[in-house]
Amino acid sequence: MKQYRCGRSGLVLPAMTLGFWHSFGDNVPYEVQKSIMCRAFDLGIYHFDLANCYGPPDGAAEDAFARVFHSQLQGHRDEILIATKAGAPLGDHPYQSGGSAKHLISNIDKSLRRMNLDYVDIFYHHLPDPDTDIQETADALSRIVRQGKALYIGVSNYSPEQLEDITEILRENKTPCVICQSSYSMLNQDYAKNGLADVVQRNHMGSIAYSVLAQGVLTGKYSKGIPKDSRIAVDPRYIQADAITDEVTNKVHALTELAVHRGQSLAQMALAWAKYTGKFTSVLIGASRPSQVDENVAALGRMDFSEDELDAIQRILAE
Ligand SMILES: NC(=O)c1ccc[n+]([C@@H]2O[C@H](COP(=O)([O-])OP(=O)(O)OC[C@H]3O[C@@H](n4cnc5c(N)ncnc54)[C@H](OP(=O)(O)O)[C@@H]3O)[C@@H](O)[C@H]2O)c1
Repeated sequence: MKQYRCGRSGLVLPAMTLGFWHSFGDNVPYEVQKSIMCRAFDLGIYHFDLANCYGPPDGAAEDAFARVFHSQLQGHRDEILIATKAGAPLGDHPYQSGGSAKHLISNIDKSLRRMNLDYVDIFYHHLPDPDTDIQETADALSRIVRQGKALYIGVSNYSPEQLEDITEILRENKTPCVICQSSYSMLNQDYAKNGLADVVQRNHMGSIAYSVLAQGVLTGKYSKGIPKDSRIAVDPRYIQADAITDEVTNKVHALTELAVHRGQSLAQMALAWAKYTGKFTSVLIGASRPSQVDENVAALGRMDFSEDELDAIQRILAE
């Protein structure tokens, strides 16, 4: 698998990263989780993306990761990049979310305990916190790096202005913000259009895209109804059937025809398109079975696009 450097830092990511948002909760058998994670690693994915809230329940994905990691992959710790996050809501108490020093420091400690690790490679602030002074958030992240609990800092879901602000403070603290994690897909191009991509480039930061397949919509799996074994049927916490409108279905159909002309599945074209147009260091993939990892990684065989193909995709999306 090709590898890309996050700006000028020492952090080098594989072109694809495995995400643990779904498929790693208590609702999925250990054998399935092990096969997804090991398949990804065998194909060259040495970067795993977690968060303290991934499950269900919260924390279960870190527990599942630890079970597979310590039984199968521990000997490769020096080659494996483990990312986790804190800041997304775990409950209503003021210290169960946000960007306070107390929330961030207590939650990196809990993540390290759950995963039985000495350090994570990347620690993200998961969501911006409009109520806590960004200086406090940045200083807490810097302290976590100085304590050796994380090697690199990232942020996720920040606006361009928030990213500019925290980047400046973290640079002054000499613990730079090395990576920005954002949603980006053919159906959600805000990252490229709202100025975030410019801030990332200007600050020589790495970047990683999530929900590149729009939670499975950009695979075409919902074109003829809701399959019984799909995310919408099995785990509709964050996407429900009403996301599959006629407009979306028509776009997916037209995009699938284009993908077939390129010799790819729609999932493969969507992943290649995001990496290419967003200039991402890595793109995240989610998977509910190892065969999806195989199909998605095979996208790396055709990552370039002609101007005509890019125009055709944007025409379909604008219809
Ligand atoms: N920072 C943040 O706020 C944030 C937010 C969201 C996600 N993330 C990260 O990004 C990762 C990926 O997000 P995501 O799960 O939304 O990604 P996604 O790639 O848009 O969707 C993944 C889902 O699509 C389906 N799928 C994947 N490949 C397929 C294929 N080849 N054929 C058919 N179906 C396929 C699977 O669901 P089913 O088979 O169950 O239908 C899979 O779980 C997460 O795990 C997490 O690490 C971060």
